[in-house]
Amino acid sequence: MDDAQLQELKQRAPGLAAIYHTGRETITHAADLAALEQARVQVLGRKSALTEFLRSIPGLPAEERPLVGRGGNVIRKELEELVEAREAELKRAALSDSLAHERIDVTLPGQSFPAGHEHLISRTMREVEDIFIGLGYQIAEGPEVELDYYNFTALNTPPSHPARSAHDTFWVVEQRETMPEAVVDADRGVLLRTHTSPVQVRVMEQQRPPVYILSPGKVYRRDSDATHTPMFHQAEGLVVDEGVTLADLKGTVAHFTREFFGPDRDIRVRPHFFPFTEPSIEVDVSCELCGGKGCRSCKYSGWLEIMGAGMVDPAVYSFVDYDPEKVSGFAFGMGVERMAMLKHGIPDLRLFYDNDVRFLRQF
Ligand code: DAH
Repeated sequence: MDDAQLQELKQRAPGLAAIYHTGRETITHAADLAALEQARVQVLGRKSALTEFLRSIPGLPAEERPLVGRGGNVIRKELEELVEAREAELKRAALSDSLAHERIDVTLPGQSFPAGHEHLISRTMREVEDIFIGLGYQIAEGPEVELDYYNFTALNTPPSHPARSAHDTFWVVEQRETMPEAVVDADRGVLLRTHTSPVQVRVMEQQRPPVYILSPGKVYRRDSDATHTPMFHQAEGLVVDEGVTLADLKGTVAHFTREFFGPDRDIRVRPHFFPFTEPSIEVDVSCELCGGKGCRSCKYSGWLEIMGAGMVDPAVYSFVDYDPEKVSGFAFGMGVERMAMLKHGIPDLRLFYDNDVRFLRQF
């Protein structure tokens, strides 16, 4: 509203002019957004002087109505616009105020997230796998809850075989020897696998030769003391092809040992017995601490046992329909905990299962 219009309004409707003035004052003096909202209600709300004035217009003399009515509406619109303008102004001020006073110190140290660490067992399994993958082997896995048939019977270890008793088996469904003859069906027993060797049979059932596999995984036995845990890890190897000999087994194990422990380590093999290999051997690696001279760590022998192995017994082939006249092969099995202990000089098996990240971070 320009000055001339205002002057005219003051003469013709002094009440309205006063409302306009006070309204402007109230709105422009609102110091923050809450005060502005209060001012808006006070100046433009249903109970405001302005609203009351506009309501009274119909009662005015007819010749005054047009001017006063128009004036009233112009004033309401202007005051509304003033509220909007003031609101924008207050918001801008609030923003620049917070920008000026609230600071983020980007140089403060952040929150650190404690990182875990790969377990030494997983890492050792991976190292073993990598070496055999490098030789062209495939990784094969089998179930931890296993049938008696695969864990024992098809590995040439029938129900009455004395080798079974050495395994301290956790039975899930046991087929007891005391059961009546007609009910005894040891092959159907269910157990926690006591070694990774059953994977040999499962692979040979599924695949014709040539077979080159490595099978890492968990195994279970019913003992627990300073040198045994009820669950531990093994890695099993199986090769079946034409013309495979004990020399291939020895060369493979020597290569693996040097890759895993280092180039200066020697191996030796000793005769042994396993039901599923014939002949069977155990493999030792030369003791690194004493260089083979003999020390406490190798019980003064100069050698440390690392795995069982042998040429696959033809009896095993009969369970999977391989022809022992055409193919031959070798198998080996090692304890992963033991490999890690020998490689890193870990004195106590229980360190693996204490869950102390300070132990794991060293590797
Ligand atoms: N399964 C045997 C054990 O747990 C280890 C073993 C020995 C695996 C000789 C083999 C093998 O494949 O040929 O004691």
